Amino acid sequence: MPQPLHFSAFVMNTNSHIQHGLWRHPTAQQADFNDVNLWIGLAKTLEAGGFDTMFFADVVGLYGPVNGSYEVNAREGLQIPSNDPSVLLSALAVSTEHLGLAFTSSIVQSHPFDFARKVSTLDHISNGRIGWNVVTSSLENAARNFGMDRLIEHDERYRWAQEYMDVVYKLWEGSWDDGALLKDKARGIYADYTKIHKINHVGERYQVEGPHLPSPSAQRTPVIFQAGSSPAGRAFAARNAEAQFILSPTPEIAAGDISATRALAVEYGRQASDIKFFQGLTFVIGSTEEEAKRNEAEIDEYISTDGFLAHINLGLDQATGVPLDPDMPLKDIKHEGGFSHTKWLREASPDREPTVRDLAKITAKVRGRFVGTPEQIADRLEEFQRAGVDGINVMNWTLPNSYQLFIDEVMPTLRRRGLAKEEPVVGTLRQKLFGHDQLLPTHYGRQFRGAFGEHG
Ligand SMILES: Cc1cc2nc3c(=O)[nH]c(=O)nc-3n(C[C@H](O)[C@H](O)[C@H](O)COP(=O)(O)O)c2cc1C
Repeated sequence: MPQPLHFSAFVMNTNSHIQHGLWRHPTAQQADFNDVNLWIGLAKTLEAGGFDTMFFADVVGLYGPVNGSYEVNAREGLQIPSNDPSVLLSALAVSTEHLGLAFTSSIVQSHPFDFARKVSTLDHISNGRIGWNVVTSSLENAARNFGMDRLIEHDERYRWAQEYMDVVYKLWEGSWDDGALLKDKARGIYADYTKIHKINHVGERYQVEGPHLPSPSAQRTPVIFQAGSSPAGRAFAARNAEAQFILSPTPEIAAGDISATRALAVEYGRQASDIKFFQGLTFVIGSTEEEAKRNEAEIDEYISTDGFLAHINLGLDQATGVPLDPDMPLKDIKHEGGFSHTKWLREASPDREPTVRDLAKITAKVRGRFVGTPEQIADRLEEFQRAGVDGINVMNWTLPNSYQLFIDEVMPTLRRRGLAKEEPVVGTLRQKLFGHDQLLPTHYGRQFRGAFGEHG
């Protein structure tokens, strides 16, 4: 019997996250994402339906060329408008009991002292159910929103990210010893200052004295998620991540990526199993194959070519931001990035030159999409599990219907086949994923526990 997989629901506090155009589907409610009740209802559905966590993506800038038009972004509701997921999480924390609540925050967007305080507050409110997806932001507009002239070079962003991690680990792990919070009414001592330490961090970008203002929350450090796949991103994950989101096109490619990251983690003194891998997949379900194909054809009617192209930073004229002619052959596109994408598509279509329109349709098709019956979906999940995947990051077409369908139609089959848990694990998010509440002693961040003296 296989081990049960973990399940994460991949969402974003916006109208159009990944499946552009689907907001127009008759069952879609994501257009009303400003309404907190949509999210509270979804969180309750996921919790009752056996999901371990909800995972909010986030960006802090526009996709597309910096001086170009954002007409497509606005028309599609493509990650604009969007709201801050961390604020939403406090509403979800008090509306649920044991669902994990993970969100994305970039190192560019907040100072680590402030960020660490916000996360500790959320972890207190949720009794230890918070996860943080660490991103470095690859959008030029995001850099310009936070005082930079332009995007910082890729590997340098990961060096910056490591200093950011050092600061927050020092605050979460090192600033307060266990037992510092006394709440002793009889003696009149609320907290023991000898167990609360300044961290006196002085680095390349940050100087933070401390102490951390919140007392330790149930997890101290939130569960650290990450999704980078470059050599620098993988090294960062091997050292810091407890869970990694991957979007591998096949189980074979997933197996290679997973074993490479696990081997690196071992080099950092961790166990290979200390990192859990979540494969991103999105399902079109039918009670028969024919029905699933019909449902797929219906979804395809709503796919927005402009939206997909804007999201992958292709298909817009890089100088003006104006959408390219959908019938333009790919070989005629002049672009700065995304070469591997167009090269791959041209290789995959040897009999004719693919067009801009094909690129959008095929991207939508291949990006984690699986079409089939519940049994076929279970077979596919088993293949990914054999490749080393620990969990599935379920992407949606429509909110909340995609998750309701998955829970009603697929989860029972997964439970019967041992691929999903019968009962939820209660407790912290780390407890659900790993069976313990705190960072492991072998994790990089744990070195800061007990590292600071009486006054820092
Ligand atoms: C499943 C998944 C989710 C991601 N979510 C976000 C996100 O919410 N915000 C963001 O800025 N980047 C996000 N990314 C991008 C990654 O953080 C990272 O920049 C990207 O995978 C490229 O990795 P690299 O910088 O190591 O090359 C995501 C990537 C994946 C695979």
